[in-house]
Parts: sequence; C-alpha cells; structure tokens
Amino acid sequence: MKIGVFDSGIGGLSVYNAIKKDMPEQELIFKNDRLNMPYGNKNKEELYSLVVPIFNEFVDEGCRIIVIACNTVSTTIIDRLKAKYKDIILIGVEPMIKEGVSLSKNKIISVCATPTTLKSARYQELKDNYAKNIVVLEPDCSDWSYMIENNKIDNEQISKRINSVLSKNTDVIILGCTHYHWIEDQIRQLTKNKALVIQPELSIIKKLKQAIKQLS
Ligand code: DGL
Repeated sequence: MKIGVFDSGIGGLSVYNAIKKDMPEQELIFKNDRLNMPYGNKNKEELYSLVVPIFNEFVDEGCRIIVIACNTVSTTIIDRLKAKYKDIILIGVEPMIKEGVSLSKNKIISVCATPTTLKSARYQELKDNYAKNIVVLEPDCSDWSYMIENNKIDNEQISKRINSVLSKNTDVIILGCTHYHWIEDQIRQLTKNKALVIQPELSIIKKLKQAIKQLS
C-alpha cells in the first residue's frame, strides 16, 4: 500500500525510518518542505497553503494514507485537511500529554514543542483534558527544529533548557516535535535518569497498522 509521510524536514525522516523498520513491506513516500521550514512559527493559514500542494502530490501518486509526521501541522490544521482529503486516511501526531501525565510520579511534566504547537487550540485541549491538576513546563525550544535541520546544534543551549526543567523536578519530558528525535539521546543523557523522555513513534506505528487493516 502506498503511504505518504510528511514533515517540514528531517523530523519526518525519523518517523519514516521507524515505519520502514517495522513495516518494510509497505511502499512509503517521504516528502518534506525544507524550503519553507521551520513550520514551528507559522500560522494556520500559512501552514495550510504550504501543505495542500504537497498533499495533492501524495494523492496524485496514489497514497491512501498520509502520516502527518509534524506536530505543528497536526495540532493546527488536521481537521481542515481531513475535511479536504475525505478519501485519504490522515494520521497525525501530537504531544503525548495523556501518556506523560500517566507516567509522571511528581505530577510535573515538560513539553518540548514548537511555538505554534504550544499556541494551538488542540494543545490547550489536551492540557485541559489530561493535565488539569498537573504542572506543565514548556521550555523555550523555539529554534531547535531550525538548529537540527541545519546541523547547527547548540549543545549548551539545549543543556540549559533541559536542566531548567530538571531543576523544577520534572520527571517526564515529552518530545512534541519530530525533529527532536535527532537529539533524543542527548536529552536522555542530560536527565541522568531523573526523567523519562517520551516520543510518539510507537503510537504512530500502531495507528498506521490500524489504518492499513481498515483499508485491506
Ligand atoms: N517537525 C515538526 C513538528 O513536529 C515541525 C518543525 C518545524 O518545522 O519547526 O512540529
């Protein structure tokens, strides 16, 4: 089955790699939009007009499922995209607030995500639904996707931001942007086992398997 995987950049590549490893038999087509990345500080209208031409290509190439491997796009415009692409199954990715809260003993979680994701109504809804009586820390990660995409990683800055949430006793760090996969090991080392670092690859694969079953 032809499956499209989309992100602004190399965040999607990490999701593509994870799916490919788990389901080598599927025909995956990866597309990104490096020219216009970062998406993380764009508004809904900008995102919609960038994403639609790329999704049209997926459709023209025969994809029946599109994995939106981008929290920024998923938390802002997935409903609009679902309404436009009614014959395609769209699988989104969003910060794992529910899972993070259930794993946190201290009830202090941290969400690393782009500014647009953190400002989105969907993110607010996730917090309202699952993190009502929980402290949710949101360290400034506004330039991380750009740094990662362009191989300009500022290790000192990342340490500072992660240490700032660790010093507030967070015991769960949620990676709410697929680009952060590429610094996941670094973040994990910084935690010195004081916090769990969680990311969505397994849950995307689970949803994708359900979608494939539904279409078979
Ligand atoms: N990888 C994307 C995400 O999950 C967006 C990164 C960006 O372009 O800023 O949010």
